Amino acid sequence: MSHDRPTPSPRPVIAVSRREFLATSSAAVLAANLDAAPSAAAEPAAKLALEGGAKAVKQACPLGLRWGEPERERLNAMLQQEGLFYWKGPQTALMLERFQEVCPVKYAQSCSSGTAALHIAVLAAGIGPGDEVITSPITDIGTVIGVLYQQAVPVFADLGAGTYNLDPADVERRITPKTKAIIAVHLCGNPCDLRALKAIADKHKLVLIEDSCQAWGAKYRGQPIGTIGHMTCFSLQNTKHITCGDGGVVGSSDERFGPLLQKYGDKGFDRVKGGGFQAFSTNYRMSEPQAAMVAGQLTRLEAIASKRARLGNLLTERITGVPGVTPHQVHPEDRCVYWFYFFRIQPQAFRCDRAQFVKALAAEGVPCSAGYIAVPLHREPVFQQHGFFAGRWPVREMGLTTMDYTKHQTPEVEAILKTGIRVPIHEGMTEEYIAGVAEAIRKVARHYAA
Ligand SMILES: Cc1ncc(COP(=O)(O)O)c(C=O)c1O
Repeated sequence: MSHDRPTPSPRPVIAVSRREFLATSSAAVLAANLDAAPSAAAEPAAKLALEGGAKAVKQACPLGLRWGEPERERLNAMLQQEGLFYWKGPQTALMLERFQEVCPVKYAQSCSSGTAALHIAVLAAGIGPGDEVITSPITDIGTVIGVLYQQAVPVFADLGAGTYNLDPADVERRITPKTKAIIAVHLCGNPCDLRALKAIADKHKLVLIEDSCQAWGAKYRGQPIGTIGHMTCFSLQNTKHITCGDGGVVGSSDERFGPLLQKYGDKGFDRVKGGGFQAFSTNYRMSEPQAAMVAGQLTRLEAIASKRARLGNLLTERITGVPGVTPHQVHPEDRCVYWFYFFRIQPQAFRCDRAQFVKALAAEGVPCSAGYIAVPLHREPVFQQHGFFAGRWPVREMGLTTMDYTKHQTPEVEAILKTGIRVPIHEGMTEEYIAGVAEAIRKVARHYAA
């Protein structure tokens, strides 16, 4: 089946009723806050801040410094060392030990970025020229950089209307004899439908790689994110839940892939077995100063992840039932760690467009923005021009792929990016602040209701 095949007609944004949502949401948190949630119908009309009314969000909630004593302790220890190389480095060892407590995989390798982690996973999966890898088009380009560097072909599938994660049915439709892997991006820290994706991967003998870059501390049906796919990749870039400025980790419990991670992160050199260069890769190593920082940061992760989960779920609870607004959809047994919160508006439900809705929300004191990435990845100029390598794409020139990104279609993705509104969530926020954000959304939605 062709990878350019469009999905069936775009699915409408589904308005989820308060009752339906409660049946499918993180129940404990929601139940705790249910009584406090105002009913949309009972709310009095309030003057928009945009038109001179009082702001719904009274006070900003700055994040502040994200580091202190645990990081200082590790950095001081690092400064006592004579060497700062990762191999047999005590900071790297401690960092990976702490990582494996959070994400219990047998093999873990630190590296220089999430992009590097993903490239290492793609290398370990044995992906090469002309192979196809199915993934999401709403993601950081780092998800597919490694795929392209292996001269393989990213195939973009459509996403769930409310989860913004891979739609397993569309993934299966796009499988061809050339498909070798699926990269499941847990967008915003919301776990993908891993059971369905793993079943598809097993059925078609594909490698399932989890892109957990935005999902530190997330849980799928109670299990730590990153432990269901064959390999998992995390980013430690500055905006992530925990960070060392730039960095990454790749992990696996699979005996086919796990033992390969070290060498593919280290120029192809196997530091356990030695024996010269049996494999080829680039230098993706992370040094001891960064590992020290991450070892410190990992002690904070559970508090960060649980707080974000609580705040995001509270926002969902508070805006569920608002006509024309579709909250971020999370499976009731999963823990979404809200790298950000993404809700959708139904254009026909409002007398204003999304830009005006966002402007009004911003005036209420909500630092929101329209959409996420500007366009799906395959509509970026470098994809449209197939110009990945000095303006050329060797695998296409050699006839190893017929991929034409100018014809690639993902209708729900287009709709998500046109109707989504992004609201920051972070651990420095309070429940009162989130209640204010919810009030702002309700107020603006009510004001512009068609
Ligand atoms: C989903 C996703 N994948 C991959 C990456 C790449 O990570 P890095 O920026 O650390 O290379 C990011 C970073 O933003 C991301 O959000």
